[in-house]
Amino acid sequence: MAKGLFILGTGTDVGKTYVSALLVKCLVEAGYQAGYYKAAQSGAASLSESDAGWVKAVSGTKQETESMVSYSYQTPVSPHLAARLEGGYAHLSVIQSAFAGLCRQMELVTVEGSGGMICPLVYEPNRQLMLLDVIQALRLPVLLVSTAALGSINQVVLTAQYAAANGISLRGILINRYHGGRMEEDNCRMMETLTGLPILGYVAEGAKAFPLPAEVVSSWYGAAD
Ligand SMILES: Nc1ncnc2c1ncn2[C@@H]1O[C@H](COP(=O)(O)OP(=O)(O)OP(=O)(O)O)[C@@H](O)[C@H]1O
Ligand SMILES: [Mg+2]
Repeated sequence: MAKGLFILGTGTDVGKTYVSALLVKCLVEAGYQAGYYKAAQSGAASLSESDAGWVKAVSGTKQETESMVSYSYQTPVSPHLAARLEGGYAHLSVIQSAFAGLCRQMELVTVEGSGGMICPLVYEPNRQLMLLDVIQALRLPVLLVSTAALGSINQVVLTAQYAAANGISLRGILINRYHGGRMEEDNCRMMETLTGLPILGYVAEGAKAFPLPAEVVSSWYGAAD
């Protein structure tokens, strides 16, 4: 059974896909059968232009792009609204079996969240499905991706506290688009102090490779139980 890692973001556009692609690339280059999965994606005109397409192009994984995403919507809005506009409501059972299927083919699967911590995938009068439900169902170690930009302390601490309040303990933080300097260094120390979580890695602006070796990266993946 494969091991997985859930990549949660402090919000949309924070770099979940960019970081996921570098994680998968790092593992593929080290000889792992490494794959990627995103339950629901919105705002991509085609699969090749989607997050899955980016990960496929950057990482060199042998996985077919079609198996990387269960629900793909073209409209650039929250998945719950895209589903309402386009049809194709997400189902947790479909997501769980797609992920389980990938786990039979792959050794290490990187799972990208949609948006930030609070992301509705279905929000209809008779049925709701939140990203939180997906995280709770897959039972994977969760890493939080954030930048170290102004405002990031607030986003990281709120996300960690909301996750903890819902029974999800984050394993650590990955800083993306890291530039260093007095403010970013201090923001990182404050994130660690206020959450008690370690910063596990720093991905620089324009990074072409994950900055840590595959032995370290692979140790973050855990078994879904
Ligand atoms: N370290 C980086 N260096 C350069 N560009 C980056 C970096 N991280 C992210 N970007 C760019 O920022 C944009 C947003 O990144 P990305 O698509 O990874 O965000 P996301 O969190 O996955 O967003 P979404 O919520 O839509 O899935 C992309 O154009 C991406 O190429
Ligand atoms: Mg993305």
